Amino acid sequence: MSFRDAPLAVIHDRDRATLFNAEIRAAIDAHLAKYPSEWKQSAVMPALTIVQDDNGGWLTRELMDDVAAYLDLPEVAVYEVASFYGMYDLKPTAKHKVCICNSISCMLNGSEDLIHHVEHKYQVKPGETTADGRFTFKEVECLGACRDAPVVLIGKTFHEKLSAASLDTLIEGLE
Ligand code: FES
Repeated sequence: MSFRDAPLAVIHDRDRATLFNAEIRAAIDAHLAKYPSEWKQSAVMPALTIVQDDNGGWLTRELMDDVAAYLDLPEVAVYEVASFYGMYDLKPTAKHKVCICNSISCMLNGSEDLIHHVEHKYQVKPGETTADGRFTFKEVECLGACRDAPVVLIGKTFHEKLSAASLDTLIEGLE
């Protein structure tokens, strides 16, 4: 095995049983069970998603450190994932996240118009939350549904081939 192939592993002195609650530990363990024990880093993305969902949609430094301890990873390995992927948020968000894909297929099919529409109508820039707290607006990379561009992800639901009017209808339906 080369150095590049070596699994990431560090010694944490924290008792895993004290990290998170039993429900979260069970949810993370279900993902860990899919991989060999020396490849716990394979579960870092689902673990971050589980912890973020439980924390109201965003990750604190402490929660990322807890994920690192739980998975026996260096903290930086978790920070890298959490800061790279657009589905993770490192500051508080609204209950709802409106995520407009602006990668090539969506861009060619009107996502920039949707982004400008949201910016003007709701007075919010990507990365910000509306003044009324209704939603956090995000511009994200390809969501893997390019055939039906432009695509908007709200919560965990994909909305495809949207116009400004149909996006407004979705936003106005957010509670
Ligand atoms: S480019 Fe938008 S979903 Fe792929």
